[in-house]
Parts: sequence; C-alpha cells; structure tokens
Amino acid sequence: MDRLVIEGGRRLEGTLPVSGSKNAALPILIATLLTDEPCVVENCPTGLRDIRTTVRLLESLGKKTKVTGSVVRVESTGSLKTQAPYDIVKQMRASVLAAGPLLARFGLVRVPIPGGCAIGLRPIDIHLKGFETMGARRIADQGDIIMSAARLRAGPIRLRFPSVGATENLMMAAAVTPGRTTIKNAAREPEIEDLAAFLVRLGAAVSGAGTSTVVVMGRAKLHGARYKVMADRIEAGTFLIATAAAGGKVRVAGAEASHLTAVLAALKKAGAKISSGKGWIEISMDRRPKSVAVKTSPHPGFPTDLQAPWMALMTLATGFTKVGETVFENRFMHAAELGRMGARIAVSGSEAVVAGVERLSGAPIMASDLRAGAALLIAALAAKGRTTIQRVYHIDRGYEAVERKLARVGARVERVK
Ligand code: UD1
Repeated sequence: MDRLVIEGGRRLEGTLPVSGSKNAALPILIATLLTDEPCVVENCPTGLRDIRTTVRLLESLGKKTKVTGSVVRVESTGSLKTQAPYDIVKQMRASVLAAGPLLARFGLVRVPIPGGCAIGLRPIDIHLKGFETMGARRIADQGDIIMSAARLRAGPIRLRFPSVGATENLMMAAAVTPGRTTIKNAAREPEIEDLAAFLVRLGAAVSGAGTSTVVVMGRAKLHGARYKVMADRIEAGTFLIATAAAGGKVRVAGAEASHLTAVLAALKKAGAKISSGKGWIEISMDRRPKSVAVKTSPHPGFPTDLQAPWMALMTLATGFTKVGETVFENRFMHAAELGRMGARIAVSGSEAVVAGVERLSGAPIMASDLRAGAALLIAALAAKGRTTIQRVYHIDRGYEAVERKLARVGARVERVK
C-alpha cells in the first residue's frame, strides 16, 4: 500500500492548479441516466477512484462510457437496468444518487442500503421521504431498498435538513417528472448550482439553485448535452490552508473565490493576505496564524469538508481555538493523529479545543478518511522533519496526483509504493 513521505518546513511558492470538482462531477455523471442521448462531461477529475467507480456504475446500469483525459463520454446501448450492484454502492455512497433518475424514468429502482462510514451513520431517510412525497412506495428487502411508483408526481417537497445528496437526487427525479416540483429547505452548495446548470442543458427548467428553494419544471424526455464541471472548491480550500500553515505565496489557478467566502474570511482573520480574480485566488502568509474559531454548517457556512484542514492550521495558531462540527457526528478522527505530531487538541462531543503550539514535528501517522488525510498532509507540510502518512488511498479519493501538484510549489512529497 502506498505511503506519502513528506519533508516538512518548506515555504510553498508558485501556482497550484485545481481539478474539476469531484462532488459536482459525481451527480452530473449520474444525471446522464436521465437521457438516452449522448452526453459529454468535461473537466472530470478522472484520476480519482470515486469518478472511476461512477463510470463503472453507469456501465453496470447499461451505459457505454469512454474516458479521454478529463472528458467522460456517456452513450446509450439500449435499455437501462434499475438495480445498482452492491459491490459498487458499498465502495461509494454517492451511488445512491442513481435512485432518483431510475425511479423517475422507469417507476422502479433497487439499491442496497449504503452503510455508514468513518465520519458517521449517514442515513438516506431524507432522500427516501422525498421520493415518497413524489408518490413512490418503499419496500425493504434483504438489505436493499426497493422503491416503486407507477409514475412520480411533481409537487412541493420540504426537506427536514438541507442534505446535499437528497437535494441532488430529488432534482434529478424532478427533471424527468412532468410538472413543477418545488424543493424547500434545499441545500445551497455550489455543486447544486452546477447540477442545475447541467439539467438545464438536458432540457429541464430549473430555478433557485443556490437558494433554499429550488424549482424544477420537469419534462418527460430530456436530450443529450455537453457540459464542463466547476472547479473543486474543497481542493482549492485545502491548498490555501496548506499555504497558510507552511507559509509562502501560492496562486490557486481555476479556483472561484465566491465559492469559498467563509473560508477566505477565516484565512484573512488568521493573518493571511488574500487576493482573487476571475478563476484564481492568491494567498500569502508569512507569520504564525492567529486563532480563528470556526463552526461548520451547510453552505454558505464554513464547509465540513474543510474542518479537518482548518484544525490542522489552528494547531499552529497563537492561543486557543474552538472548532465546532455540526454536519457530521463523528468527524474528529484527525485530532488524535495530529496529536502524534505535537498538536494539543481536546475533543468533547461536537467541539474541539486546540491549544496552538509553535511548531509540529514529523511523525509516522495514518489517514482515517479523506479530509482527515488532507489535514495530516497540511500538518506534515508545516512540520519540522519527516512525516510518513499511511492509508494514502483515503487522500487519493479526493485529491488528484497530490504529490505531483504540491511538488510544483516546492513541497517535498514522495509517494512510496
Ligand atoms: C455531500 C458531500 C460531502 C460533504 C457533505 C456535506 C458529495 C459526494 N459529498 O455529502 O463531501 O461533506 O455533502 O457538505 O457531494 N443526512 C441524513 N439523512 C439523509 C441525508 C443526510 O440524516 O437522508 C445527514 C448526514 O448523515 C449528515 C448530514 O445530513 O450528517 C449532511 O449530509 P448530506 O448533506 O446529505 O451529505 P452528502 O450528500 O452525503
């Protein structure tokens, strides 16, 4: 299994390019199930395992796919299957997003119930309740959920929590259900806006994406489209926080400042200089970070996916920092590993208190999930000495060629097979 070996304590200087957004590409690729016409999805981070798993999911449901660089072409081969295979769903929870398109088009879908994961239970009750509001009936059978409906009905739906996945699943179902579906208390993440823009290209009318009320005017038949996926705001945020931790001056190319408002505000308070323009954000940091408390919440709040990276930065801050997590119930696994590098963190329920130290020191550590892995990488870049990170496959789920990218800004990161 791969390990990353990092010689820390070097300033980062130069330009880091961001890839297409994983969390936007996943639902957009799955939305190609809504049409029998060919679709071309550009700027997909095809180096990531989850994207390859999504391509396999489409194939297993009866699509033909072709991946060329970052472009994925999806075509029909005839009829689609309505059953998602367990070995794919268990590898990638986002597979459950296939339920919306399949149920809406064929009146039937069977998906294995995705298990929990390291960061929490992650139920799918909000997705299912939404489908029921649209007229589907649910039967549980041997660990699978079967949903059926002669025909889904458009209409009003209210989510009990603004779940990103549930909002996407319901938007896709509504796009091929004739009539007007209104999703209230919808997630407002930029990835929702990207999916909405793709659905519009397919021929549905969508308004309100990015606000808490999304309105979809569905059509019985959608057509093919070509679409370019947005840049990955979480990868961009990770690079910015890494630069703040290690010190230096980095331009993150392709990043969109309006997607990272809460994070950029926190970075400025911590003492970083930030400038941005169309398609780039630049950070420069030449001091020890000031302590800045954050509490995660759905967009436009501080993103849960950058909570662990932020905690890594705050281990070096002057003073004490509170870090609160309100989106997932168990997302502080990085705290103990950071402790091995000299960080001082006390976790109690959904809050952690970090007592900043002047420096971290390299150590052998292990990634427990994707963003915890990113936090360890950030700490390792800033630390004095050598760090070895095990279970790099977690980091590889969300960061394409991370060691090659970081090498461009002067980091010493080596992958050892
Ligand atoms: C997406 C992102 C993930 C990010 C998260 C929150 C993708 C592929 N993943 O995940 O990176 O961390 O948004 O920004 O886009 N919940 C329920 N019932 C449901 C659905 C969700 O209780 O039916 C709970 C979850 O357990 C979690 C919270 O709601 O505690 C947020 O989940 P959700 O917004 O659905 O996240 P995902 O779409 O899974």
